[in-house]
Amino acid sequence: MTKISLVGFGGIGIEAAKIIIQDPSLCCNLVCYDRKEAIDADPSPIAGAYEEMRDAIGIQESGHCIHLTSNLDDVADSDVIIVTAGLPRKQGQSRADLINDNAATIGPIAEKIGKIAPNVFLIMVTNPLDAMVELAYRKSGLPVHMVVGQAGVLDTGRLTMEAAHAAKSYASQTQSVVLGGHGPQMVPIYSHTYISGKPISDYVDQKELDAIEARVADRGATIIKKQGRSATFSTAMAAVKMVRSYILDQRKALPAAARLNGEYGVKDLFVGVITEISRKGVKVLEIPLSNEEKNKFNKSVEETRKIVAELK
Ligand code: 2OP
Repeated sequence: MTKISLVGFGGIGIEAAKIIIQDPSLCCNLVCYDRKEAIDADPSPIAGAYEEMRDAIGIQESGHCIHLTSNLDDVADSDVIIVTAGLPRKQGQSRADLINDNAATIGPIAEKIGKIAPNVFLIMVTNPLDAMVELAYRKSGLPVHMVVGQAGVLDTGRLTMEAAHAAKSYASQTQSVVLGGHGPQMVPIYSHTYISGKPISDYVDQKELDAIEARVADRGATIIKKQGRSATFSTAMAAVKMVRSYILDQRKALPAAARLNGEYGVKDLFVGVITEISRKGVKVLEIPLSNEEKNKFNKSVEETRKIVAELK
């Protein structure tokens, strides 16, 4: 049976589990790992969510199995692991502010995953994303095509909704893509943003394009402000979309943080690009960019490099 593990069963992990157990195409053994203190707390929202999900599987009469554990050894031999462990961003914090605390959590976890799940497809979600995925790659020793960071699917979903709204259309008729680092430096690629087959520039002027860009970049902070905590459901939805593409060998073209080896003129850095995710792992797809987009992408790469360089 397919084994999917969630390392970090907080806000995003719980939402990811809910999405996975409702998806018959992802019928699996689902292992949910978190710290013992969090599971044993009284009351424990984590343990409570887990108990409810067990019941939900019963109601659904599906073949999913779910298991809550504080023993990281239980994720051994997983097919896919989504790592969301670490601190989420709080109001007033940048993603980069989390680097030291989250590196201390992610380093040992990644090292262990590399040893006990050597064939895993590892999806990193913890922020600052581009640095945490690099750290996980280095510490796990997993092959480069089996380590990927989730950010682009979320950022692209955000742009898709903004673009659809601006054109009074629907997400189902909109294609868009956001590349670059996951932070204020993300780059909406308007040359690949189409609504009902027409470029976004047919619907809105430059002023509105700039406003959309700012709203997309600020979306994570907007959500923190509105709900008092960072995005969980949408982030989980994005990570599970990547899981599906891998497990079901869908070969979807998905924006994700992959380690570049010369593509876009960049080497040895995880940064958001279009990738193909299949049972073979992640493969970088290069797309043509306008000159302005290239400049913004290069700037984003430099910003991302600075954040990654802070890794000790
Ligand atoms: C966000 O952009 C959680 O980083 C994530 O909302």
